[in-house]
Amino acid sequence: MDLLSDLYGPGHRLCETPNPELSLVLSRERAIDLFELEQLCDAVGWSRRPLRRVRKALQHSLLRVGLWRHDPRVPRLVGFARCTGDGVVEATVWDVAVHPHYQGAGLGRSLMAYVLDQLRELEVERVSLFADPGVVGFYQGQGWELEPLQRRCAFWYAP
Ligand SMILES: CC(C)(COP(=O)(O)OP(=O)(O)OC[C@H]1O[C@@H](n2cnc3c(N)ncnc32)[C@H](O)[C@@H]1OP(=O)(O)O)[C@@H](O)C(=O)NCCC(=O)NCCS
Repeated sequence: MDLLSDLYGPGHRLCETPNPELSLVLSRERAIDLFELEQLCDAVGWSRRPLRRVRKALQHSLLRVGLWRHDPRVPRLVGFARCTGDGVVEATVWDVAVHPHYQGAGLGRSLMAYVLDQLRELEVERVSLFADPGVVGFYQGQGWELEPLQRRCAFWYAP
């Protein structure tokens, strides 16, 4: 097996980068380190969640995708997304993040394309997500449709 497949699994995908010194790799197979994920979430300004809950959320997710800055010894997690769902009909994308140092280079778009390709392989029919207000345009630019009647979506929050 080649080195990249060894580190990131046979389903990995290399991202295009303008810097030939830098290899960035998408993988749904390489395990996510919870502390690294926490650092990434800190870097994009998200509030912390207890690690045992994050571990459980990842275990119960349908798909976990990491974006790694390749290093043969210590790959660094610089992007992440996960999906929940039934694995056949419906999936929902959560926690899409690219480290600020790597934003604006098309990696978020590559991450989303990879996520959708993995869901397509599962033959998932419909994918949803909840965009933060400042990020709606990011998804719209990639063909996501806004919920047309904004009053149809319902939530229940634990008291
Ligand atoms: C949102 C995020 C994942 C985008 O990652 P990125 O690597 O910077 O995005 P890309 O460089 O691939 O951008 C792709 C396109 O989307 C546009 N875009 C990026 N962020 C955008 C935003 N917040 N609003 C509108 N458009 C945006 C880019 O300009 C680019 O447009 P182009 O194709 O016309 O050049 C990243 O900014 C991030 O992690 N933000 C903090 C966490 C967050 O808010 N996550 C989303 C939660 S719903």
